[in-house]
Amino acid sequence: MSTNRTFTMIKPDAVANGHIGSIVNDITKAGFKIIALKYTKLSAEKAGEFYAVHKERPFYNDLVSFMSSGPIVAAILEKDNAIEEFRNLIGATNPAEAAEGTIRQKYAKSIDANAIHGSDSDENAQIEGDFFFAANERF
Ligand code: RTP
Ligand code: MG
Repeated sequence: MSTNRTFTMIKPDAVANGHIGSIVNDITKAGFKIIALKYTKLSAEKAGEFYAVHKERPFYNDLVSFMSSGPIVAAILEKDNAIEEFRNLIGATNPAEAAEGTIRQKYAKSIDANAIHGSDSDENAQIEGDFFFAANERF
């Protein structure tokens, strides 16, 4: 069963390249409501914790150092069928394979610097949202 919330981060590459405004605009135009929003920076330790599921993967160290290399924007978003709808909006992990008009196709340059994160399940959306936001930061 799908629920109506997902979690996202605008990654350091998209922030550094000046795409925060355009990406938030794409997200809200696609019908997602912002429940929580934060401009912050992950320490290497926190980034490692966030991506702990990928600890054994060859790209883990690069992923952690990239995600802690600059500020990010974290958000909890709401829409019917949020997980799947948001993954469709952001496009494939590798921007070279992302469909026309998707956020990664428009704003990402490589599989490592791929502009945006989207939760892959209801369970992870809950865990990831709780990682960044207290109850009194959600509206
Ligand atoms: P994300 O979690 O950031 O939304 O990305 P995703 O679900 O599309 O991809 P995932 O498999 O969860 O991988 C997390 C991030 O690790 C990098 N990655 N590199 N070189 C590679 O084969 C590879 N595979 C994944 C990507 O930056 C991806 O966003
Ligand atoms: Mg993922």
